[in-house]
Amino acid sequence: MTDVTAAIAAAAYVVAAILFILALAGLSKHETARAGVVYGMAGMAIAILATLALVIEGSTWAGIVILIVALIVGGTIGLIRAAKVQMTGMPQFIALMHSFVGLAAVLIGWNGYLESAPIASDLVGVHRAEIFIGVFIGAVTFTGSIVAFLKLSARMKSAPLVLPGRNALNIAALVLFVAVTVWFVITPALWLLIVVTVIALLLGWHLVASIGGGDMPVVISMLNSYSGWAAAASGFLLDNDLLIITGALVGSSGAYLSYIMCKAMNRSFLSVIFGGYGIAAPSKGAAEETGEYHETTVVETAQLLANATSVIITPGFGMAVAQAQYPVAELARSLRSRGIEVRFGIHPVAGRLPGHMNVLLAEARVPYDIVLELDEINEDFPGTSVVLVIGANDTVNPAATEEPNSPIAGMPVLEVWKADDVVVFKRSMASGYAGVPNPLFYRDNAHMLFGDAKVRVEEIIRVLAETGARVTG
Ligand code: TAP
Repeated sequence: MTDVTAAIAAAAYVVAAILFILALAGLSKHETARAGVVYGMAGMAIAILATLALVIEGSTWAGIVILIVALIVGGTIGLIRAAKVQMTGMPQFIALMHSFVGLAAVLIGWNGYLESAPIASDLVGVHRAEIFIGVFIGAVTFTGSIVAFLKLSARMKSAPLVLPGRNALNIAALVLFVAVTVWFVITPALWLLIVVTVIALLLGWHLVASIGGGDMPVVISMLNSYSGWAAAASGFLLDNDLLIITGALVGSSGAYLSYIMCKAMNRSFLSVIFGGYGIAAPSKGAAEETGEYHETTVVETAQLLANATSVIITPGFGMAVAQAQYPVAELARSLRSRGIEVRFGIHPVAGRLPGHMNVLLAEARVPYDIVLELDEINEDFPGTSVVLVIGANDTVNPAATEEPNSPIAGMPVLEVWKADDVVVFKRSMASGYAGVPNPLFYRDNAHMLFGDAKVRVEEIIRVLAETGARVTG
């Protein structure tokens, strides 16, 4: 490698690192999110070009051809999959991406052991520890992300796996990892590398399998963080500064996001990292909710709305499934034009992605100033005439505040039942993502409007338009 190429690549890495920091800053606000994505893409393009320049100079023709074929095949698959993925499929897609980062870190670690590159004698111990740490974090990220993918795509039950002595199992795996790492640093052997890989693969699987559906949002951002640390560990092994910086940025921002989400959901950060440590197993007593529910119609709902003075709309995952954000935005405009106060209440984990509902509402041009977070709106439900629950379930479940043994106990929820009337838009009496029955549906002031949310909201808009001026009840 010539000095000139190395100097240009080093400068390009600094520019890429700055662009990644700008990307994170941009992504922290709605208004600048698009610019943030562009910064991130530009940074990644520069990073790939600089790395290619560095690698190609020292490679054989065969190596260069393999590299270019890998780039084209990987890039094409990524492009096709990303173009096809629905917004509702993003969480499992992201989990799958995290699993690739984990797998790459494992392979880089194994390569670090198997290749015979010369290492300065005083750094041999550090190199061996780097291999083990990289393989460990990578393997935990790999299987953890695969389980998250399976749970998020409903290929595996979202209920937590509760093995006897699960906390002891996790602690034993960690202790074994430390012991085997020390052993490997002193006397490296292939079988030790195999042992640490197997332990970490099992631990990653167990950590995520032990976490219930309601806590999955935190798990996704934790895995995002782990994938960053796995990349940083690979950066040390490959002696690549940009990989270390980028990995650390992803690792620390993911950890911070997880911390914020834990606070918002009233969960212990450590308990989530350690696979639900300290969380009691869900009680079997929380049987399927029974009782009488009141079914309503489109016309009755339109009448309730026409007579309301204030309306709060609380959207959830079902709004995303139905793609109901456009008619919901139109309904809000129509009600506001009748002089009715309309606001949206957004739960921090509504939908399947952080900010999922905000993105959908912004897409449908709902003004930001009427979209309020849970803690900004929760005290306003008493005194509100009508709440429209559009495809939300876990995020409006009173069991979280009223049933101490519920798997979602302690999670703050939108207290919609405190309004005068609540209309719940959904297709059946089925539970939400966490699989917990919802007593809201059986409250006296709750009205179930069954059917696809988009179809039902469009019908309400039509009825309201036909009735014209305010209908008096
Ligand atoms: P959920 O609890 O998932 O409930 C969504 C409801 O929408 C379902 O009960 C479903 O009932 C209804 N629905 C589905 N399709 C519909 C359609 N076409 N029309 C009308 N209704 C429809 O939603 P939520 O309240 O938003 O809660 C989110 C859950 O996902 C939480 O447990 C959260 O922890 C978890 N989670 C969140 C994230 C993030 S970061 N946001 C990530 C992973 C997991 P029917 O089937 O009866 O229609």
